[in-house]
Formats: sequence, structure tokens, C-alpha cells
Amino acid sequence: MKLRPSTEKHKELFKEWQKEGQMEEITCREIKNEKPFVDPKVLAFSFFVENIKEPIGKFNCFSINKRNKSCECGYAVNPKYRGQGYGEIMIRYCVNYLFNNFNFNKLYCQTGSFNKSSVKILKKSGFHRDGVLREHHELDGKLWDDYIYSILRAEWKKWNKF
Ligand SMILES: CC(C)(COP(=O)(O)OP(=O)(O)OC[C@H]1O[C@@H](n2cnc3c(N)ncnc32)[C@H](O)[C@@H]1OP(=O)(O)O)[C@@H](O)C(=O)NCCC(=O)NCCS
Repeated sequence: MKLRPSTEKHKELFKEWQKEGQMEEITCREIKNEKPFVDPKVLAFSFFVENIKEPIGKFNCFSINKRNKSCECGYAVNPKYRGQGYGEIMIRYCVNYLFNNFNFNKLYCQTGSFNKSSVKILKKSGFHRDGVLREHHELDGKLWDDYIYSILRAEWKKWNKF
């Protein structure tokens, strides 16, 4: 066996694999006799509140997987308005909106263990900590764990605080 460093021909070399490869990346297993659904779109939301003209925050859904009925979510509050409870309101609003308007079964997020407010919001909003990516995230010279949090449709239905 030989290991060859990649050259610019790398893509060409794996051209035949590409279709299958993309599908596997998304589904983790081959789908026979079925057209894979790959939606490149990102669902993006901007969050506004009354009497403030600029957006308070943004919420994005990416890696939308129609087969698995899941997507990953990322969010940020405008730095000027952090620490005022908007993050929690926005995340709950978006989770509600996504489950009410789309056929998702699962929404998940990756967040740094150092990100106290993000972790707190997810816990308070009914998300489950699915796993830890150990020493995954460099910040200020330290390697921190990242957490994966998710909420399932069935859990959201039981969650009355939205
Ligand atoms: C994470 C983020 C969205 C939180 O939004 P926010 O509006 O500032 O958060 P909230 O004001 O709703 O606060 C949420 C909770 O965290 C708590 N909190 C805030 N800072 C904290 C800290 N350092 N330690 C412990 N708790 C903290 C708040 O007290 C609040 O809890 P409470 O309601 O029980 O009082 C915001 O900080 C942000 O945009 N960060 C940058 C982007 C990011 O990290 N995104 C998440 C990864 S995808």
C-alpha cells in the first residue's frame, strides 16, 4: 500500500466516487434505488423586536437532511443586546417555528463548553446533551470540549414552556 499526498488532480481522481460520497456524507449509508435528496439551502432567520430597528439576532439551519428529518442550528445575538434574555427568546421562538412549519424530527446544535449562556439556554429549552467532542475547540490558547445538544419533536411536544 502507498500513501500519496494530494495534488490538484485529487478531485479528478475521486470523480467517480463523488456522487456516492456526497450521499454518504449526508446519510452515512448508501440509499439503493432512491434519489438522494440534497438541499443546499440554508434556512436563515433574522430576529427583530419592537422598537429596535436593527436585527437583535440571527438563527441559521444548515446540514438540512430531509431523509433523517434533521438539521443543525447556529445562532447569535447582536453583541449590543447580549445578556438581556434575547438569546433564549429567539432560540425558543425558532425551535417552535421550525417544528411547527417543517417536518423536522430533530434539531441539533454544537456549542463550546465555555459558552455558558448558550449551554444554559439549550438546557433550559429542553435540549438534551447527546455527546461531548473532547478538546475540540481552541479558545485563548486552551482546548475546550464542545457539546452536541439536540431536541426531538417528541420532546418538544412535551415541553410546555415554549
Ligand atoms: C450565546 C448567545 C446567543 C446567548 O444570547 P444572550 O441573549 O446573551 O443570552 P441570554 O441573555 O438569553 O442568557 C441566557 C442565560 O445565560 C446566563 N448567562 C449569561 N452569561 C453567563 C455566564 N457567563 N455564566 C453563566 N450563565 C450565564 C444568563 O443569566 C441567562 O440565564 P437566566 O435566564 O437563567 O438568567 C450570545 O451570547 C451569542 O450570540 N454569542 C455568540 C454566538 C454564539 O456563541 N452562538 C452559540 C453557538 S452556535
